[in-house]
Amino acid sequence: MRRPIVAGNWKMHGTRADNARLIEELLAGHPGRAAAECLVFPPFVYLQDVARLLREAPIGLGAQSVCAEAQGAFTGEVSAAMLKDVGCSHVLVGHSERRWLYHEDDPLVARKFAAAQAKSLVPILCVGEHLEERESGRTEQVVARQLDVVLDLCGVGALESAVIAYEPIWAIGTGRTATPQQAQAVHAFIRERIAERDAKIAEATRVLYGGSVKASNAAELFAQPDVDGGLVGGASLNAEEFLAILAACGSR
Ligand code: PGA
Repeated sequence: MRRPIVAGNWKMHGTRADNARLIEELLAGHPGRAAAECLVFPPFVYLQDVARLLREAPIGLGAQSVCAEAQGAFTGEVSAAMLKDVGCSHVLVGHSERRWLYHEDDPLVARKFAAAQAKSLVPILCVGEHLEERESGRTEQVVARQLDVVLDLCGVGALESAVIAYEPIWAIGTGRTATPQQAQAVHAFIRERIAERDAKIAEATRVLYGGSVKASNAAELFAQPDVDGGLVGGASLNAEEFLAILAACGSR
């Protein structure tokens, strides 16, 4: 049985006051023992603050990116050890905004994945295709390449302590969600691709969907057999929305 995850990627939003309010509202509305694991991913500078607000709470903490190097002269970067030190358990790697706006390529994403695991952080590996790649029938090819580079470097066993998020780029922040059938098809493909290396690990790996997930579409996305929860951007900044998405995950 794969326990679903609902993860909130706050991106570059919020202030200390906003975060405190959001966490207070989330804690007030969280059922305590939700069916799904709940995680939030604030900006780096607020991680320690949010870690303190979440102490003892049933909500986990992650970062939005990590440096591929362990330590040293890498101005502006944040290491996996630092993230662990301030209370993170998870980290996003390969989010499409990192890949496309900051030119992070597949090998770098794979090294970030490895750097996270070297410090016992659980990486959430984001994969997904551009609109023109989907329209030219290359979705599976793109997703397979993004996944294979990580599996080649780290081995399929690395997925025992990792999560995958399928996020079609054309659905991120656009209000245009993949249909449940489109999401399911790619999620099933990802699971099959992993199963070519190890069927048991494929069955156990959680694959989240991301891209304009909202309270109004979450339940039908999460009802798909290979969709194990969601990576939520915009809607995670609103406690009521995010809690409704969490509840939708529990009702599948
Ligand atoms: P969105 O973002 O929910 O705002 O589309 C999802 C993501 O980028 O993780």
